[in-house]
Amino acid sequence: MLLKDLLQKYPKREDQLIEILLEYQNEKIDHYISKEEITEISKYLDVPESKVCSVLSFYTFFSDKPRGKHIIQVCKDVPCYVSSDVDVLKIIEKELGIRINETTSNKQFTLELTSCLGCCEAAPAIRINDKIYTHLTADKIKAILSEYKVYM
Ligand code: FES
Repeated sequence: MLLKDLLQKYPKREDQLIEILLEYQNEKIDHYISKEEITEISKYLDVPESKVCSVLSFYTFFSDKPRGKHIIQVCKDVPCYVSSDVDVLKIIEKELGIRINETTSNKQFTLELTSCLGCCEAAPAIRINDKIYTHLTADKIKAILSEYKVYM
């Protein structure tokens, strides 16, 4: 959907900003909001571009850079960090051959850190796109990634 068409669904109010950004970013294949799109949203809502940029930078689920088809977010907060012997981040980096904030050359995976995913009791946890995976072990992480690689 074109951004101008999506914007027409929303009232011209600042409190719609996060909803607009979320819906549009989720629809885009490269899951990010470009500079030109920031300008267009800013004009539509009549809010300063700096306001749109501050929202984009505040929430880890937004990006102003192109990302892969599958966005893997590793929880970096303490309960996940201390709950297991498994170094989730290192395993994923090794499996995909990328580091934090990088995208695989085939544009299929982007690896990011995130704050708490709200399931600390089942730590460690990651989110891939909209799905959360918990109680991670090395084998479980490899199996999960294999599923996504099959459907690339
Ligand atoms: S600290 Fe990782 S899910 Fe809460």
